[in-house]
Amino acid sequence: MGRQDFIDQTLAGLREKGLYNTIRTIESANEAWVTIDGKRLLNLCSNNYLGFANDERLRNAAKAAIDKYGVGPGAVRSIAGTQDIHLELERRIAEFKGTEAALSVQSGLCTNLAVIPLLMGKEDVLFTDELNHASIIDGVRLTKAQRVIFPHRDMAALEQKLEEHKDIPKKLIITDGVFSMDGDLAPLPAMVELAETYDAMVMVDDAHGEGVLGRSGRGIVDHFDLHGRVDIETGTMSKAFGVMGGYIAGSARLVEYLRQRARPFLFSSASTPADVAACIAAIDILEESDEPVRKLWENGKYFKTKLQELGFDTGVSETPITPVMLGEADTAWAFSKRLFEEDVFATAIAFPTVPRGKARIRAMLSAAHTREDLDLAIEKFALVGRELGVI
Ligand SMILES: Cc1ncc(COP(=O)(O)O)c(C=O)c1O
Repeated sequence: MGRQDFIDQTLAGLREKGLYNTIRTIESANEAWVTIDGKRLLNLCSNNYLGFANDERLRNAAKAAIDKYGVGPGAVRSIAGTQDIHLELERRIAEFKGTEAALSVQSGLCTNLAVIPLLMGKEDVLFTDELNHASIIDGVRLTKAQRVIFPHRDMAALEQKLEEHKDIPKKLIITDGVFSMDGDLAPLPAMVELAETYDAMVMVDDAHGEGVLGRSGRGIVDHFDLHGRVDIETGTMSKAFGVMGGYIAGSARLVEYLRQRARPFLFSSASTPADVAACIAAIDILEESDEPVRKLWENGKYFKTKLQELGFDTGVSETPITPVMLGEADTAWAFSKRLFEEDVFATAIAFPTVPRGKARIRAMLSAAHTREDLDLAIEKFALVGRELGVI
């Protein structure tokens, strides 16, 4: 047996179980419509909530930054120096979020790897929602702290766990803000109350709240008016902001600490100037107008209501994320394949991204979709749903 044969066996196992993911190749920009295999398809897959990924204002900002700063940051910021544009982005994020300070890192995934191990040592205890994103799970795995996983959104269970661990001085509660596979929200007000009662820190990953919730997309803390009561916000510029990069927002001392010690900051080069400039342009747009956010919600509401009227189960979403629950992975893959044939690009999501038996098509609406786009998608969902006996 060859040294790498186990890889073939594992991949064959995935194929057998219907869990093998064939990744499509997109030949165009990421927009409401994309080109795949030479054909135009309506795009319901991307997290490009506000349609910024190919927005002319962001593209122009990126081009101007390349002309001024070049294409690469040179090295890690702590060694090569930080470019002023990175500092400007951090100031703008902090202002937008309403926090004292912010630190930008390369991605949303990196934020959770940066901050969680820095806050939690082996004497400490952290409490994490069972459905938290993989990057939170990985951040937690990098610590030696005691881990308590509480049932999804269950604040009574969290309270009981906090009570059991009340004698441990340093405690951290971690949650996604919007759970991206279901579109439901963390019960942040109740969580903050519990944290204050038990003297725990609270950290929220706002990756899918950014540009979606709160005034002009300021996120979940703004949505629930909890400014000053959440210790750490992590987030990404890769979804609603349409670009790439992550940030950690919080107190000035937290950000200072991260600058000195966070490993993704110290051991991985900074985001490119073009990315950073495009992120700043996205914030400019949102600070000028909440129009893109309003359009996104309008589209989400329309699409979800129409699918429900057709008899689809759209789960528990409270946001424009629209999961169409299909049960087994096979059905979800077949649904996605038929939609593809009908010019609609909507990927099936199955185990291990969601629990077994809860496979779905997750339709991601965008402010860039027109009413005609949505009507077309609804027509195709109805067609395929009837064909497969889902409705
Ligand atoms: C909750 C959450 N956190 C972090 C990330 C990672 O963000 P990025 O793609 O910027 O690494 C994602 C994206 O999938 C996410 O949904």
